[in-house]
Amino acid sequence: MKKILVMHGPNLNLLGEREPGVYGTDTFESINAEVSARANELGFECEVFQSNSEGALIDKLHAARLDCAGVVLNAGAYTHYSYAIRDAITAVKIPVIEVHISNVHSRDEFRHTSVISPVCRGVIAGFGKNSYLLGLEALKYIIEGEA
Ligand code: DQA
Repeated sequence: MKKILVMHGPNLNLLGEREPGVYGTDTFESINAEVSARANELGFECEVFQSNSEGALIDKLHAARLDCAGVVLNAGAYTHYSYAIRDAITAVKIPVIEVHISNVHSRDEFRHTSVISPVCRGVIAGFGKNSYLLGLEALKYIIEGEA
């Protein structure tokens, strides 16, 4: 069974209590349970990782290149300015799908820029927790060679 990584960046561990009007009331744990179950249905083993630290996210991406077929990544605010995470995505070569719970384009100006989009295989934003589930579907198409 191929393995995939679902990775969350800073502040996403507080999902459920963090700005529920923007990010919803589902907890981090319940979203991860749903995402893992869907990944299994799609035929993937799924690892979930969250960190509030840029370096830890980069280390995890490096490790994923050795045993994962792809990554669904919500890099949180790092999306908007982390050239280090962008370089890590380029370095690892495995497909990375950028996801966001909120529609970043309808929010603050600084959220309209993603420095990682150009090196990700695609971007999904604005569908709440379903953005992660859509990210899994996208990865399945890519891994199975249909996209
Ligand atoms: C986010 C959007 C980012 O702008 C924000 O910093 C986050 C979450 C989202 O999932 O909508 O932490 O990535």
